[in-house]
Amino acid sequence: MFNELNFDRIDLTAEPPAEEPARQYYFMAKCREWVSDFQKKNERLPKACVVNMGCQMNARDSEKLAGILEQVGYTEETDEQKADFVIYNTCTVRENANQKVYGHLGQLSRTKKKNPDMKIALCGCMMQEPEVVEKLKKSYRFVDLIFGTHNIYKFAELLYVCLQSPGRMVIDIWKDTDKIVEDLPSERKYSFKSGVNIMFGCNNFCSYCIVPYVRGRERSRDPRAIIREIERLVADGVVEVMLLGQNVNSYGKTFDSPMSFARLLQEIEKIEGLERIRFMTSHPKDLSDELIEVMGSSKKICPHLHLPMQSGSTRILEKMNRRYTKEHYLDLVEKIRRAVPGISLTTDIIVGFPGETEEDFQETLDVVRKVRFDSAFTFIYSKRTGTPAAAMPDQVPEDVVKDRFDRLLKEVQEIASEVCAVHQGTVQAVLVESVNDHDPQLMTGRLGNNLLVHFPGDESLIGKIVKVRLDECRGFYYLGEAVDMDCK
Ligand code: SAH
Ligand code: SF4
Ligand code: F3S
Repeated sequence: MFNELNFDRIDLTAEPPAEEPARQYYFMAKCREWVSDFQKKNERLPKACVVNMGCQMNARDSEKLAGILEQVGYTEETDEQKADFVIYNTCTVRENANQKVYGHLGQLSRTKKKNPDMKIALCGCMMQEPEVVEKLKKSYRFVDLIFGTHNIYKFAELLYVCLQSPGRMVIDIWKDTDKIVEDLPSERKYSFKSGVNIMFGCNNFCSYCIVPYVRGRERSRDPRAIIREIERLVADGVVEVMLLGQNVNSYGKTFDSPMSFARLLQEIEKIEGLERIRFMTSHPKDLSDELIEVMGSSKKICPHLHLPMQSGSTRILEKMNRRYTKEHYLDLVEKIRRAVPGISLTTDIIVGFPGETEEDFQETLDVVRKVRFDSAFTFIYSKRTGTPAAAMPDQVPEDVVKDRFDRLLKEVQEIASEVCAVHQGTVQAVLVESVNDHDPQLMTGRLGNNLLVHFPGDESLIGKIVKVRLDECRGFYYLGEAVDMDCK
């Protein structure tokens, strides 16, 4: 896609076009002029560092930012201290995520004192919180650009304004939007796999969660735009896609003529050359029988389901506004295991939600023991200002929460290592992802169920699907040996 761009055809003496994405291409061309001047003055290209601090949705947004910076002429820099332009794509799902951002800014302020031409930008979910922006305006004046989640598609324009306004703090935050702008450039971290947004925002308002406030109302992408994007990715060498949304199970519900997520999956399955389909995240209340059936009959959907349960106590689930019960969750697990035998199940669990008693916590442990998750992300409840749970009475004391968290983690880890071991000795199709971080003789690949395996091989295998025998389980990953180098 990048090579198709022809910036010379854009008339920069004219007014910027009003429509998107043409307007953003106009500003990319303007930024390219700025970069060309920078290069003449400094005899090098400017360097940009994109720091992603959030979930997979944020990571995909970061790739879009990196794509635009690349188009404009910046080179990639991984060390934020050495970059001419640093952008933090922030998360705010838990309080400690915010503290991390202030920590980074503190460090960069010293670097910027030595290099005043350095530009510092902040975007993402944390910027949608008005108190955060107030604090930045008051105590972090050296930040050059701040924007939020709803106008990220305007990055090229905002970057241009920022480059033209040295010493000024450029701020543009929108409260919400129903707009989805297609066909902007984007980078990719891996050549062979890619995230693909299918929807944005969230309407669920789980009572602990800040996401609906910072990501806005749920809106689904047009299926034709999704298919077109995946076809282009496949033509460019991608064999695996991860469909992304806060609750993919409610995809298409807001269309004039609704389309289910299961139908979308069936359409994507038809794309020739695409080998693997993953998706995330599924809300248990919206996991339909239709979807379970499609997963059961699909050749391409990976046997892995991330199904956040949050708590095993029906009483707490109600307070969390999750709209399912412990029994419903267990039923779903049974149904999906019947339809897709051997499927890997993973989850998210919060401990210490306001009012959680030892009995409630025991219910959570009970589900963990019954389901035997392949892995679970465990979180200590974090109070997010503005969410209903923050105002609930009976916040659980810190030491009690910590004790429950430790017990839960131990249980989850023990089960995960036992569950992992069941595949020992089997031969599985593996998508080879990278050279092993610690041993260059080994390659690292991912099974359909998302487990990692390390095996002897060379770089030429990256992006290929090979068959690997899983010889030895090491708790959360395998050591193995390739037995067939060309398998689909
Ligand atoms: N949309 C996804 C989750 C997005 S946030 C879903 O509903 O499954 C990822 C996870 O962070 C959540 O599943 C939840 O377990 C956790 N989380 C969200 N808000 C939290 C809070 N206030 N405190 C602790 N964990 C939280
Ligand atoms: Fe948050 Fe719930 Fe929406 Fe997930 S579904 S993003 S936990 S409000
Ligand atoms: Fe964090 Fe925003 Fe994702 S708050 S979890 S980066 S949607």
